[in-house]
Amino acid sequence: MKGVVLAGGRGTRLRPMTEIMNKHVLPVYDEPMIFYPVRTLLENGISEILVISAPEYIGGYIQLLEERFEDAEFSYKVQDEPAGIAHAIQLAEGFVDDTFAVVLGDNIVMDDISENISAFADSDEDCMIFLKQVSDPSRYGVAEVEDDRVVELKEKPDSPETNTAVIGLYLYTSDVFDRIPELTKSDRGELEVTDLNRTYIEDDSLGYSELTGQWFDVGTPDGLLKASNFVAENRDA
Ligand code: G1P
Repeated sequence: MKGVVLAGGRGTRLRPMTEIMNKHVLPVYDEPMIFYPVRTLLENGISEILVISAPEYIGGYIQLLEERFEDAEFSYKVQDEPAGIAHAIQLAEGFVDDTFAVVLGDNIVMDDISENISAFADSDEDCMIFLKQVSDPSRYGVAEVEDDRVVELKEKPDSPETNTAVIGLYLYTSDVFDRIPELTKSDRGELEVTDLNRTYIEDDSLGYSELTGQWFDVGTPDGLLKASNFVAENRDA
């Protein structure tokens, strides 16, 4: 399986740090943010990795990643406009084979998902999402689960029905490239991953797994601080 790291976007919640630099190079304790999602893929056996970022930053990522991760084989693609996660996923067409993983560049996932990856490859499902119980669900995509099936997904609802967040790690089959062109832009002008993943509920081809390990969305100052403290305290632990 190949992997995709999405490192584009506007980084609005981390302004002013992101006015002149891409958020995925901001430090999480003593390493650039993007090292963490790259490591999530590598530690789960995925070493062929496509990094997608904005035109002005992609050269920096080539320098940064090639030097640090000798075991990985990187490819790079430019996202010309920050038009959403689903828009960025479409850019992976041509790079991936039948099944692939997508991780958002601002997500730190410490679970071992290698069994999920194997199970997904053998299953009839076309998308797998990963869920996590949180105290502040309105900051995330939120899932409703009934009888072991995801029955609803909402992007940052004002009044979430559950505390179940959808984290920024997804497994897809290549049929995703037929679905993304059918999506319409959200109110914030983006092709939303939540709208994409909802199409799999309609098909009954959406799997999920609830994670128990540490997870951080470091796209906010608070998330960045918490993750940095966690990494500092658990280094070598
Ligand atoms: C994105 C997704 C959201 C998901 C979150 C996880 O939101 O749109 O569904 O829960 O990542 O980090 P963003 O933080 O990019 O606004």
